[in-house]
Amino acid sequence: MAGQQKETGRSHWKSRFGFVLAAAGSAVGLGNIWKFPYITGENGGGLFVLIYLVCILLVGLPIMIAEIMIGRAAQKQPVGAFEELNGGKTIWSAAGWMGVLAGFIILSFYVVVAGWSMDYTLKSIVNFTQPIEKEAAAETDLFIATADMESMQNYLIDKRLADQARMGESLLEREISKRQMDAFARFQAAVSAAEDPEEARRRLLTDEELQQTVTHVEAIQQQMQELRKGIEEQVRADVTGISDETLFRQVRMEKRRELVLAKVGVTFGNLYTNGWQSLMWAFLFMALTVGVVAGGVSAGIERACQILMPTLFALICTMVLYGAFQSGFPAAVSFVFSPDPSRLKPSGVLEALGHAFFTLSLGMGAMMTYGSYQSAKTGLFQEALMITFLDTLIALLACLMIFPITFSYGQEPTAGPGLVFMSMPLAFAEIGTGGMLLSILFFGLLFFAALTSALSLLEVCASYLIDQKDWSRPQAALATGVITLLVAVPSAFDGDPDTLLGTWHADYGKGFFDTVDHLASNWMLPLGGLLIAVYAGWVMPRKLQEAEVKDIPSWMFQGWLFVIRIVAPALVVVVLLQKVGIFDVDELVRRL
Ligand code: PHE
Repeated sequence: MAGQQKETGRSHWKSRFGFVLAAAGSAVGLGNIWKFPYITGENGGGLFVLIYLVCILLVGLPIMIAEIMIGRAAQKQPVGAFEELNGGKTIWSAAGWMGVLAGFIILSFYVVVAGWSMDYTLKSIVNFTQPIEKEAAAETDLFIATADMESMQNYLIDKRLADQARMGESLLEREISKRQMDAFARFQAAVSAAEDPEEARRRLLTDEELQQTVTHVEAIQQQMQELRKGIEEQVRADVTGISDETLFRQVRMEKRRELVLAKVGVTFGNLYTNGWQSLMWAFLFMALTVGVVAGGVSAGIERACQILMPTLFALICTMVLYGAFQSGFPAAVSFVFSPDPSRLKPSGVLEALGHAFFTLSLGMGAMMTYGSYQSAKTGLFQEALMITFLDTLIALLACLMIFPITFSYGQEPTAGPGLVFMSMPLAFAEIGTGGMLLSILFFGLLFFAALTSALSLLEVCASYLIDQKDWSRPQAALATGVITLLVAVPSAFDGDPDTLLGTWHADYGKGFFDTVDHLASNWMLPLGGLLIAVYAGWVMPRKLQEAEVKDIPSWMFQGWLFVIRIVAPALVVVVLLQKVGIFDVDELVRRL
């Protein structure tokens, strides 16, 4: 081992545990704490989580093993690894290149969100929700003191109905596919623009497919309307029947929450729409990342992860423990763990599979690079299992940390990407005393998780310069950091279209941030993962593979080989085909 180290001059992890922690640090990141809870929310919890676990086992774990195997065998980062194993440049080097490119792209938007987490940690330390809460309380008192009874009742009725309508909408989404909805919207727009709507209807409905769609959508809308009428009467009766005292109490709660949410939203909006501020935080975050990576594999990355990862774990456990004593805890647990097929769309399955790549840092060579700093030839399967287990555990804990709080404080689990920057501060504001501490813990946790992941993203790009171009480590880290920060500029200005890329949203249909996230997470990672699986399953010489897995029973190796050759590639191809639009699973399943 020492001999090899001298021979190649390559740095190595100090211990196996150090490697597992660093790799788990790469895996556990914004994907676990920011993305997983909100996509779980959007996909109705329970069943989505179950399917996610299956994807992790059938696709994530085997590809994780493949990446570490390739990295360990080649002792190189992705570009160098394929060259090393194939004895020169081959078409496989392209897979390595795509990895480095994906690293740049992911890091460029990652640093922006990570920067926000730093900003929010500082905001929490100065207790930013306290003035918000105070103002909201004052405005609420004013409303109750001055509004007449009827408008207070109407306020409450509208609130309740809006909640119901939101639930109805998600029901509607499940019954009607996106394509049907678009077609129906076009149809409606055309009919309402026509002078003779009846004639317009008749003309358009000569198209058989459109006719089916319109009949389907109208029938469901009709049902919804009837349902809504019943609910409206019910709500009206309920609200007018309550005592003044209850009315005031409920109005006070709703109004205050609404005001706090609006103000917390404004706070986030201020940051989001101020590109320079976002960039400043991204810069600070990047400087930290570069500093650690420049420190070296063992003295920088391994040491940082040895401190950050246990802290992160302690923070998340504290938060979950707090959640366990909240009134919303049982609802949260059943939301996350009880599978309810009616809450999941088939395309959610593919989303789960796609997320498996992002959350485990697969498909772009991060695990390959980290694996290449290992000289041992044993323990590969256990390590991969451990990393995967830790990542999954933290993702589930993140749900158990966020949902009890959002449920207890009247938030929707489907709040989307703003969930952590808006719903969570809202809850912290309502908690009052102690909310500040929780807020520091929460955003600090997000920051640590982002940092350990960013280290691996930067390391992939930097190690390319170190291995292939003989740069010194500090130079490589700095250069990669500077270039990535340049690429990050448009992402930082995503919410600030007056300053930069004003027409991007209109031209691409989504903001710059979403565009690059989509490109890297939905395309490059699965594609990279597919190439890695095919390479490890079909191309990598058996001798090299066996050298890495001497210590496991042969049935286990054969099992892995089967999954990596057939199951994992097949599943990834299905995901990619759905993305190309060759088929639409929601549509297919509905037809069955
Ligand atoms: N796994 C990280 C997360 O969940 C993101 C990441 C992707 C890191 C790819 C490295 C490589 O946030």
